[in-house]
Amino acid sequence: TMPILEQCYNLMDFEHVARRVMKKTAWAYYSSGADDEITMRENHAAFHKIWFRPRILVDVENIDTSTTMLGTKTDMPFYVTATALGKLGNPEGEVLLTRGARKHNVIQMIPTLASCSFDEIVDAAEDGQVQWLQLYVNKDREVTKRIVQHAEKRGCKGLFITVDAPQLGRREKDMRTKFQDVGSNVQSSGGNDVDRSQGAARAISSFIDPSLSWKDIPWFQSITKMPIILKGVQRVEDVIKAVEAGVQGVVLSNHGGRQLDTAPSGVEVLAQVMPALRERGMQDKIEVFIDGGIRRASDIVKALCLGATGVGIGRPFLYAMSAYGLPGVDRAMQLLKDEMEMNMRLIGVAKVSELNPTLVDARSLHLH
Ligand code: FNR
Repeated sequence: TMPILEQCYNLMDFEHVARRVMKKTAWAYYSSGADDEITMRENHAAFHKIWFRPRILVDVENIDTSTTMLGTKTDMPFYVTATALGKLGNPEGEVLLTRGARKHNVIQMIPTLASCSFDEIVDAAEDGQVQWLQLYVNKDREVTKRIVQHAEKRGCKGLFITVDAPQLGRREKDMRTKFQDVGSNVQSSGGNDVDRSQGAARAISSFIDPSLSWKDIPWFQSITKMPIILKGVQRVEDVIKAVEAGVQGVVLSNHGGRQLDTAPSGVEVLAQVMPALRERGMQDKIEVFIDGGIRRASDIVKALCLGATGVGIGRPFLYAMSAYGLPGVDRAMQLLKDEMEMNMRLIGVAKVSELNPTLVDARSLHLH
């Protein structure tokens, strides 16, 4: 029998339940990583190489987990990152993530390839609730322009351009379970000529423009006033370029290990990026986010100590939603909040702004 919700004590518990109760095709799409899934595993494992250096005898009676990302205040330093095809896991889809995010005052990133329509997801939000748009850039730039300007008009507060997917990675688990029903009305998929024999991912992504380059960034800056963030940056040099291009942020990410296998984990890159930015006096010119493998609030705290503004979390919310619907999403976020308070208290930090590199020992990160 299925464990009741109260028996889920951490984010990994939702994954174990979801694996048992989800449809095979849905589980395959959500859980798969590229090729040998080495990067997917390393995303979480990398956090085990970072150790805390806790402070003692600090007043930690009142803990404040709130922070600011891209100019908006939020109760937690994590956001719900963009994951496609929410209805594979639950017939209501992404709007459940919207409602969970609203309850906990966390930010949600809306995927281009959501199962619910973009407007449904925006309509599910309350006044003042912050949402961002994740963008896959269409070969037809008029389509892209329409999507971006519509999102801005509807109040989105950030444009996250995915830059790590000029071609979709080979997720073999997904490819093996022949994908039949997306159960969605994905808008930008480019017609009916999708090849359903190649797994869900390939079937929906043929419109993505592989010719996208640095030269296109000024065009995005000309069509929107939203902050622009490059999602999927994987090396120091490209973070410097992003600063020089005048974008407001980067997400150090490997797409949850679903794109290039043996790409480095976001937190590993972060530990190299922040010193390089400081060396160049660029640390205040850009907000640096990471995602991938974040399953405990200790992972979040470590990323913030190393200089991240915030972190994205993907699969755990999908699994919580698939297994238990909205109450699952709610509990997953509450567990993270409780863990966050405990971790901050135990390392001797009362406010997010006090997290700093002296509170972690990340020396073994680079020893492979
Ligand atoms: C994703 N991700 C993703 N990213 C993106 O830019 N556009 C997208 O459509 C999707 N779709 C998607 C679907 C599924 C099922 C997963 C698991 C992931 C990547 C996502 O935004 C993020 O980078 C990772 O999910 C972070 O890793 P974790 O938290 O899932 O380990």
